[in-house]
Amino acid sequence: MTTLPDSIAMPVTLPRIGDKAPSFKAVTTQGNISFPEDYKGKWVILFSHPADFTPVCTSEFITFARREREFNQLNTQLVGLSVDGLYSHIAWLRTIKDKIEFRGWKNTEVKFPLIEDITMEVAKKYGMIQPNESSTKAVRAVFFIDPKGIIRAMIYYPLSLGRNFDELKRVIIALQSADKHGVAMPADWQPGEDVIVPPANSCGVAADRMAGKEEGVYCKDWFFCMKPLKKEELELA
Ligand code: BEZ
Repeated sequence: MTTLPDSIAMPVTLPRIGDKAPSFKAVTTQGNISFPEDYKGKWVILFSHPADFTPVCTSEFITFARREREFNQLNTQLVGLSVDGLYSHIAWLRTIKDKIEFRGWKNTEVKFPLIEDITMEVAKKYGMIQPNESSTKAVRAVFFIDPKGIIRAMIYYPLSLGRNFDELKRVIIALQSADKHGVAMPADWQPGEDVIVPPANSCGVAADRMAGKEEGVYCKDWFFCMKPLKKEELELA
């Protein structure tokens, strides 16, 4: 018998940046949701984890729960997903609250919705099942979805690596700031640091910029111009 490689047997569709977030209805630990409609007007971090009752996922859930308020303050809601069932989710979250301490955090209550996806319908729509990593568990995917339901960024981590929450927060702040101010963020940008001014689309504007005539803008060459953007000016979310 010929066995097809996983990647041929189960083609993976990956949503792309700029796509509308695929819609679905789901049962969660906080009731039923219609996604992304229920989140209109808010940013969402939709993320998957490989399995309930596993250690890396447990450390991530405690961190998500403990930092949820920081994301909410950025008009951002958290929504988790794994291919486990609702009763597994409920039992795992109760165990986390009752027994698990991580980085000094105890009695952690997870209040954001965790989707049950036993059929893998949602996980497959979002490309969270990556068969060469695992065909039975979702990878650690993170989708950043804007208030209009558009996918703005994606990060995928393997099963063996927990996510960096400062980076997740930085991505949300950067996306919101880029939208609001019509700028782009350079490598390793942190709030408060100078930002990139997109290249001018006319020679006149480019020349004025180069001559230092655009307030606050400084250029190293015609294609590399920056300006300050103070933390107080970000007016996030
Ligand atoms: C974990 O979360 O610890 C984990 C989950 C699936 C595979 C390996 C590790």
